[in-house]
Amino acid sequence: MKVGVPTEIKADEYRVALTPSGVRELVEHGHEVVVQAGAGEGSAIADADYQAQGATILPDAEAVFGEAEMIVKVKEPQSEEVARLEARHTLFTYLHLAPDPGLTQGLVDSGATCVAYETVEDTRGRLPLLAPMSEVAGKIATQAGAFMLEKPLGGRGILLGGVPGVAAANVMIIGGGVVGMNAAFIALGMEASVYVYDRNIDRLRELDIAFQGRADTCYASTLDIEKMLPEADLVIGAVLVHGAKAPYVVRRDQLKLMKRNAVLVDVSIDQGGCFETSRPTTHSDPTYEVDGVTHYCVANMPGAVPITSTYALTNATLPYVLHLADAGPERAADENPGLAKGFNVVAGKVTYQPVAEATDQPYVELSDVLGAAA
Ligand SMILES: NC(=O)c1ccc[n+]([C@@H]2O[C@H](COP(=O)([O-])OP(=O)(O)OC[C@H]3O[C@@H](n4cnc5c(N)ncnc54)[C@H](O)[C@@H]3O)[C@@H](O)[C@H]2O)c1
Repeated sequence: MKVGVPTEIKADEYRVALTPSGVRELVEHGHEVVVQAGAGEGSAIADADYQAQGATILPDAEAVFGEAEMIVKVKEPQSEEVARLEARHTLFTYLHLAPDPGLTQGLVDSGATCVAYETVEDTRGRLPLLAPMSEVAGKIATQAGAFMLEKPLGGRGILLGGVPGVAAANVMIIGGGVVGMNAAFIALGMEASVYVYDRNIDRLRELDIAFQGRADTCYASTLDIEKMLPEADLVIGAVLVHGAKAPYVVRRDQLKLMKRNAVLVDVSIDQGGCFETSRPTTHSDPTYEVDGVTHYCVANMPGAVPITSTYALTNATLPYVLHLADAGPERAADENPGLAKGFNVVAGKVTYQPVAEATDQPYVELSDVLGAAA
């Protein structure tokens, strides 16, 4: 198969979907790899590094989409990329379709086979291709929150860890999955007072063991969240219902309960946001204010640390890239039911139920359309 790697074009996105190690593996499996010139630059990978492992460098995205059968990317395709997709393409990338009916329609119209990193599952129902970026985003969430709490940046002017004789800041984390746990570990490392809220009791049990009493775990009922909001200096939103639009865990009318110039970091923004007042922002302009509360809602937080993120992401995606290339999408989905969960749009149909429901598209079983894919 011919595998293509375009340069990411989303604002402030510096990751790349394949490293030279990935090229080497694909080439050893008998595949061809075409990489857009400069695609690895943001992650400190030169064209020559790809070429040394057997890739061909092509001048632009048009050439990559024109030649490749499988396109591997990082972020959801932007409109000019959607326009380049055809029925013969397999697209493997983050898609986050539930909050984006427009993109979903674009992918339906393209006829391409679109496989989303974020809904691929492992044998235990976990999300192996979301996890590495969630680890990064969780760590950044606390760092960014701590920074935004500084007075010159519009924050309350409180140091997360406090100092002897002055209390630490309160960090409230809603959603104690991969993002939430990593955010908590950094907050604990900075010596803040940390409270993690989740609705899954088994998950709270696991966190309780991991934190060894250093952070509080709390059930995420509306009332309990409301009781903590007036105490919180930094609130990190990290909930996820697999593939679906994020539920709101803080509503607009609850902002008035919060301290003036407290900070909300909405990591779930890529699934539509878990605070009612969230809207996506970029690294160049990461925050805005609503009712005296700073909102940080960067939709591609790991993009800020591409050297870490590119390798963390591609370590996880490579086995799936190889499987898709070796077996072709139809057989790969058949052989790996967890990978099949990643197939969101195939041959003009939405094949992932939460996306179909959220975007008002008819849902069609994957097995009914895979054979029809080009
Ligand atoms: N903005 C970014 O750059 C970025 C990067 C990586 C991940 N993310 C996003 O972060 C979010 C979290 O990802 P994750 O990997 O930690 O997911 P996860 O599945 O590991 O954890 C989500 C947690 O949310 C909990 N939850 C669900 N509904 C809840 C509710 N109503 N109240 C409280 N808890 C609830 C679940 O029980 C689970 O423990 C996802 O939307 C993911 O796409 C964003």
